[in-house]
Amino acid sequence: MKLDEIRLGVNIDHVATVRNARGTNYPDPLKAAKIVKEAGGDGITAHLREDRRHIVDQDIIRLKKQNVLPLNLEMAVTSEMQKIALDVLPNAICLVPEKREERTTEGGLDLLSSIPRLRSFIEPIKKKDIRVSLFIEPSEEQINAAKIIGADIIELHTGHFCDLFEKKDQGYIEVIKTLEKAAIYAHKLGLEVHAGHGLTTSSVGHISKIQQIKEFNIGHSIISDSIFLGLRGAIELMKQKIKESRF
Ligand code: PXP
Repeated sequence: MKLDEIRLGVNIDHVATVRNARGTNYPDPLKAAKIVKEAGGDGITAHLREDRRHIVDQDIIRLKKQNVLPLNLEMAVTSEMQKIALDVLPNAICLVPEKREERTTEGGLDLLSSIPRLRSFIEPIKKKDIRVSLFIEPSEEQINAAKIIGADIIELHTGHFCDLFEKKDQGYIEVIKTLEKAAIYAHKLGLEVHAGHGLTTSSVGHISKIQQIKEFNIGHSIISDSIFLGLRGAIELMKQKIKESRF
């Protein structure tokens, strides 16, 4: 079977984190989006958090208006976010669990407890031709629920794998198998498979071997590497690492 290239969605939240730290209007996430495109990135991912700690509403509006690359809006399952998605019309949304105190999205959504709620939440969004992704842990129960809910995509949470990998805990090998099994299962059900969270240029190659994965969404490590390599260099390096182990 021929492997396709994996698309890279670059999460630019932390460009806004740096901007907000000083209350300036730079660095500008829109400028970052243009560099992502020049460097060969395939999409822009941004998480509009309830507390607006990084990306703010105006960023989302500008990113969509300038339409530099397809916009994937990560958001919590709230009526406020639903309204924003319906106003802004991003190319895709990715629903994530959100806790105010967390530093980042710590786990996947628990779909099993909220199937009817999520079905009705995504219905008007799907009617606007916005693709719907659900950020979940790699389990068959969650994948089955995603299918029943009517998602187009599942994004597999790679955070647990990355934690073990960074600690050099060999348990990461088992987690890769679980991620692969989940990707195969979801693909068979007709769901598009994405993956993300915590991936770095050292760890991404282990996951890009999974042929069912069509897209990565990566932020923190790319923006961190850009301090030393420039944003363009950091994206090019990530793309190279993804490609090297894919083919
Ligand atoms: N995918 C989802 C659904 C996320 O919530 C995040 C973090 O915002 C990412 C990917 C990117 O994670 P990281 O910044 O660790 O690369």
